[in-house]
Amino acid sequence: MLYYILFTILTTPLLLIILHHHLCRRRNHRLPPGTYGLPLLGETLQLIAAYKTDNPEPFIDERVGRYGPIFKTHVFGERTIFSVDPDVNRFILQNEGRLFESSNPASVSNLLGRHSLVVMKGNLHKRMHFLTLSFSNDAIIRDHLLVDIDRLVRFFLDSWSDRVFLMDEAKKMTFALTMKQLMSFDPCEWTETLGKEYLNVIEGFFTIPSPFFSMTYNRAIKSRTKVADALSKVVRERRKASEHGEKKKDMLGALLNEEVEGGRFSDEIIVDFLVSLFVGGNETMATLMTLAVKFLTDTPLALAQLKAEHDNIRAKKGDDEPLDWADYESMQFTQCVINESLRVANTVGGVFRRTTSDINIKGYTIPKGWKIFASFRGVHMDDQHFKDARSFNPWRWQSDAGKPLPLGVFTPFGGGPRLCPGYKLARASVSVFLHHLVTKFSWEPAEEDKLVFFPTTRTQKRLPLILRRRGSAM
Ligand code: HEM
Repeated sequence: MLYYILFTILTTPLLLIILHHHLCRRRNHRLPPGTYGLPLLGETLQLIAAYKTDNPEPFIDERVGRYGPIFKTHVFGERTIFSVDPDVNRFILQNEGRLFESSNPASVSNLLGRHSLVVMKGNLHKRMHFLTLSFSNDAIIRDHLLVDIDRLVRFFLDSWSDRVFLMDEAKKMTFALTMKQLMSFDPCEWTETLGKEYLNVIEGFFTIPSPFFSMTYNRAIKSRTKVADALSKVVRERRKASEHGEKKKDMLGALLNEEVEGGRFSDEIIVDFLVSLFVGGNETMATLMTLAVKFLTDTPLALAQLKAEHDNIRAKKGDDEPLDWADYESMQFTQCVINESLRVANTVGGVFRRTTSDINIKGYTIPKGWKIFASFRGVHMDDQHFKDARSFNPWRWQSDAGKPLPLGVFTPFGGGPRLCPGYKLARASVSVFLHHLVTKFSWEPAEEDKLVFFPTTRTQKRLPLILRRRGSAM
């Protein structure tokens, strides 16, 4: 008996180790290749270090070289699969809500609100996503939004002095555009104050998400409350006015009118929803405007061709005549510049998802509950898909005209059920901005500025420019 007990005590740990090893091998043997790095930290520090240099590509490039376009790693506290494979990225995007669901840290719902589109899931998400898309489709932009975009862009550009930090000006402008489109507000003192609070909220996304460790995060949460209070007041007033038959054709009007299970959306849902549209639209659009100007400044031939396209449009119109839909549709080279800016800038570098069941893909099995990152940047910067991918070359979109790229290769706005609902609006706004910028001004850099990639892609000094009004004496 004693021998039996001793044998059991001695062999049980050994058996457990063998069993564990066997199970791990069984579970792991079809996972994509890759390394997890250090305990707890994983490869997070390598990822951040790469994005803090002038060239973040090696983090992905080295692993793709070693393991192929799907590899496993451990970043931000979790084992994660990285995909730089267009087929896999397309599969991930299209199967959102079925095999994958979007996975955001708690800080995102704290800052955006639990009813924001980014956080919503299931049928409510489908419905709200559709509503947002239908509010920014071609017909709405043509018939309603374009005229406001044109007017507001002029308003801001007319107020510029001869030296600006473009990123700051672009943020003010995109905030005003969103205020107008969502709630019909023109720029005023109230919108300016709200804009400042909103900028604090945005800062909260790029810091440690804890009110105890980060003043910035603490301030962001407080500003979020102020923004939500201010918007709640507007929603209440508009609801009252709409009950008295006063209807406005903006996003808020559409939300107030929408029927849900015999009733209407609550104020809280509407406010969270509006906040997520502000956040989704502004920073991304302002960054795209700024980086497009940076790339054009560094590529004089492209700038000259863009100027010629817009001078040509302006020559057919009076000086102050607003742009119309036909003008917008004629901006073909502008669309090439926007595509190429989106591709090189990678304003949104990719999306995180979580698997909702075991997924078999390209010979690998990704277990249920794992994080997966569909890297748009990795595909956009791959020479296999875009010749000489690291250079800004808007003409590549001209030679490709009429020849659509394979799905999953160019995804600056994502795809599938979470396709960016503001993508048409963003394109139209940036096009109108470029039109007025190049027809009204010439410019040169006030200082050397360069692209940085951490925590997001932007220029280090907010792109300081010296401006000269075209046609004015030097
Ligand atoms: C250059 C500008 C923009 C870029 C690059 C961009 C990019 C993206 C991407 C990649 C996604 C998909 C995220 C995912 O799949 O998880 C997305 C979603 C979203 N975007 Fe945009 N976006 C831009 C402009 C806008 C604008 C102007 C608006 C608002 C009017 C907007 C509102 C949103 C919202 C609300 C979502 C969440 C959609 C959902 O989860 O269903 N975006 N955007």
